[in-house]
Amino acid sequence: LTVDWDAGHYDTGGYEHYLLKEICEQPDTVARALRGRIDDRFHIAHLGGLNMDARELRSFRRVKIIGCGSAYYSGQMGAQLIEELARIPADAEPASEFRYRNPVVEGDTLYVAVSQSGETYDTLAAVQELKRKGARVLGIVNTVGSAIARECDGGVYLHAGPEVSVASTKAFTSTAVVFALLALHLGRVRDLSPAEGKRICDGLRRLPEQIKEILTLEEQIRELAIKYSDAPGMMFVGRVRGFPVAREGAQKLKEVSYIHAEAYPASELKHGPLALISPELPTVAIVPDDELLDKNLTTLEEIRARNGRIVMVGHRATDAADDCIVVPKNENELDPILLTIPLQLFAYHAAVALGRDVDKPRNLAKSVTVE
Ligand code: G6P
Repeated sequence: LTVDWDAGHYDTGGYEHYLLKEICEQPDTVARALRGRIDDRFHIAHLGGLNMDARELRSFRRVKIIGCGSAYYSGQMGAQLIEELARIPADAEPASEFRYRNPVVEGDTLYVAVSQSGETYDTLAAVQELKRKGARVLGIVNTVGSAIARECDGGVYLHAGPEVSVASTKAFTSTAVVFALLALHLGRVRDLSPAEGKRICDGLRRLPEQIKEILTLEEQIRELAIKYSDAPGMMFVGRVRGFPVAREGAQKLKEVSYIHAEAYPASELKHGPLALISPELPTVAIVPDDELLDKNLTTLEEIRARNGRIVMVGHRATDAADDCIVVPKNENELDPILLTIPLQLFAYHAAVALGRDVDKPRNLAKSVTVE
């Protein structure tokens, strides 16, 4: 059994597809995820729905994030934000895997379930199992009053509005923003200084305007998507913060264009996938201007040396790539949110160029409510 969205009562707002509409809504949806949640006095986040006081939030020694598909990839982004800002060990796992492996559930672990629909059965079943074992579970959910939202001890709503297109876009970025707020909050009850908290708050505030700037690159990205849409497959690579971006970029491309796409940590290329590099398998490389820039540029040279074609997504153009998509820079920790957006547009325009059913890709459902 799968739930089919009745998109009939939402219109595409003048856009050709819901997917493009939802991509273009992101300056607004990100602003909504932030609204009323930044405290300028203490540089903390207001997340009333957590239902946990500072003492309780300090007691957690691990964070475990679960979700499926794009929700899982946004959870990987979230885990890195929590480790970086709050210095709590954190990781993400597909909810579907988690629930079948009889996981060790510990009282000092904070569990976070991520779901746009709030109805994904694997995620719901994982939450129910966690609750049965007495764990504390927060939900990061878009749909108010959904099954997962009701099952959790507390949580944060995305307020992104209905997401109709099967491939998730605005819910992904809003989830990442909410994770940044949660990481800030967990950090500020521990060792994140007020100055560092302010740096993150200021960065978060800049996101909506910067997303608007990225959306102005649509025509350039459309031309690149057309140029590369005849490739039989594409490789997506990113290091550390860039890796969840690469995974989500590959997911978007395969979901809507049916082009085979693989995501790898850039550092792992030489341990196997480099054998695949050829002009027939172009690479999308995530190259932020952070402390790993030189490492990433070396990766580009390695791909180039094997006659690989490269689209670089980052903060400054480089001759080491065939094509460059340059986006505005934010704080290093928040850059992954912005770097995801060109990849959404790239997948969308590749799918349109190939004549795919963009909003309802074959074999997929918006919400998988079965095992
Ligand atoms: C399905 C969709 C994916 C989505 C996943 C999780 O597999 O095709 O696009 O990411 O479900 O959905 P959720 O509603 O739990 O975020």
